[in-house]
Amino acid sequence: MRAAELKPLTNYLFHYPFVATPCLLIDMGRDVGGVGKRKSIVAFSAICSHKLAYPAREVAFIRFQASASKHSEAERIHCCADHSVYDPSANAKVVAGPAPAPLAAIALSYDAKTDQIRALGTAGTEQFDAFFAKYDFKLSMEYGGKARQQSAAATRVQELSLYCRNVAQC
Ligand code: FES
Repeated sequence: MRAAELKPLTNYLFHYPFVATPCLLIDMGRDVGGVGKRKSIVAFSAICSHKLAYPAREVAFIRFQASASKHSEAERIHCCADHSVYDPSANAKVVAGPAPAPLAAIALSYDAKTDQIRALGTAGTEQFDAFFAKYDFKLSMEYGGKARQQSAAATRVQELSLYCRNVAQC
């Protein structure tokens, strides 16, 4: 997709590297060592390293929050399930709560000529095996046994609020 399509400090969701594994794409609006003209765009697996909460169609407990709340500072990825808080400007390191590890990072590439962003791979502590084991029945109902299929050459990016019917606030 083109970087210019992203609104700053907004939750975008895409599925990568598997069709059933959700990731958050965020333009932090400032240089955080990411990609894009301002090095402001980052992406992380949206599977919480605590108990594997993730953005599902019915509800997303884990999401980026632009503003501060009772449980976290502004500009954090916050899992409302048990209040694990990750800092997307510092490789999603854990800054609060019970999460034992950062979110896995999604490596991105950026072509300045075309303004295109691409996902290249993952880095860090992946939760994919645990995710597929924990949600095996649910995912097989939703994806007909194809949940572990790799994402196609193009994966859809959309605002989290358009994908999830309820986005938890906490
Ligand atoms: S599952 Fe995310 S904090 Fe517990």
